[in-house]
Amino acid sequence: MLNSPANPTGVVLTDAELQDLADLCTDRGVILVSDEIYDLFTYSDGRGEKGPSPSPARFTENMLLIRGFGKTYGATGWRMGYAAGPDWLIAEMAKFQQYSFVCAPSMAQAAMVGAFDVDMSAEVDRFERRRDMVRAAFDGVAQISDCRGAFYVFVELPEHLGMTATEFCDLAIEHDVVVIPGGVFSSRDTHIRISYACPEDKLKAGLDVLRNMMLN
Ligand SMILES: Cc1ncc(COP(=O)(O)O)c(C=O)c1O
Repeated sequence: MLNSPANPTGVVLTDAELQDLADLCTDRGVILVSDEIYDLFTYSDGRGEKGPSPSPARFTENMLLIRGFGKTYGATGWRMGYAAGPDWLIAEMAKFQQYSFVCAPSMAQAAMVGAFDVDMSAEVDRFERRRDMVRAAFDGVAQISDCRGAFYVFVELPEHLGMTATEFCDLAIEHDVVVIPGGVFSSRDTHIRISYACPEDKLKAGLDVLRNMMLN
């Protein structure tokens, strides 16, 4: 399973890394599943050109590509997406779909057609500025992930705090700020995940709280 741009770190893999991964999967005879739900969200210091992030589909056909519209068009929860892959695999997936949920809700399908004519580049620029706000807030305060895509940053809690990420998140909630403890994503409970998919004024207020919590 690959997820680039990544939730929870915002990391975007390079062409060379994707090529290596594609080769590894081919050598081992496994299908690479690439979740590219954040593909539109890469920033000007991202990998390669700004715009859709590189996909391992450039290097192999022996993979399952999964993309969707929820993040790109702010339609999370609509469950609208698509998959591309080898004929045999898509045929098996279609079999499963046909005899379980049949199709995505028809009104969501009809509504989503309008999205194809919408240019989201101004929105992506806005996310980049929010990402820059997060970077600036933790500069000199905490180590953060190499966040060049998606809308997440993984922040390592400074050791002097002497608390787990779960404890830190519980404390943040008392200040009306919701962040996710890293222990949800791995066996280490040392980082927090911040989502900057929120208006700038709210983001600034939340970052001020987190920054102050880390400085004290
Ligand atoms: C990595 C990843 N894949 C898939 C999804 C699901 O997207 P959707 O809301 O379109 O089902 C999410 C949503 O948070 C996600 O972070």
